[in-house]
Amino acid sequence: MAIIHDDVGRRRFLSQAVMGFGMVFGMGALGLRFLQFLLPNGAPRQPETVLIGSESRIPLGEAVPMDLGGQKILVLRTDEGVAAFSRRCTDLGCLVSWNRERGQFICPCHQGTFDKTGLNVSGPPPRPLDRLDIVKRGDQLYVNVKSA
Ligand code: FES
Repeated sequence: MAIIHDDVGRRRFLSQAVMGFGMVFGMGALGLRFLQFLLPNGAPRQPETVLIGSESRIPLGEAVPMDLGGQKILVLRTDEGVAAFSRRCTDLGCLVSWNRERGQFICPCHQGTFDKTGLNVSGPPPRPLDRLDIVKRGDQLYVNVKSA
């Protein structure tokens, strides 16, 4: 005559079912995160045109720092016109500042320097500063930035 171990069998079944569900759920979550890592994040980022104000807001020979939705830029006004640059140094990403006396952007981290066109002239930066397009409508200036 066979002995039936109902309690042990039921407990074992429930335990394995819970473990199996946990494993399937965990693997699914991991797989989803892996797919998010592999696939690009939604639609490509579109440039956004942001009003930065009137040209007279920027003194001649100065670069005004601005924060446009987390993107830090410098808007420089010279005799040649107005230009906007990312403040992120192309070496390791420190924030550059404008030095009026030298007429250069200077990075405080490793003394990288860029001329007024954003071109890297000395120090470790491997390439020019990122330049942003400026659009002038009347007296107002707009800059094209990538939305985050
Ligand atoms: S981070 Fe700018 S020179 Fe190194």
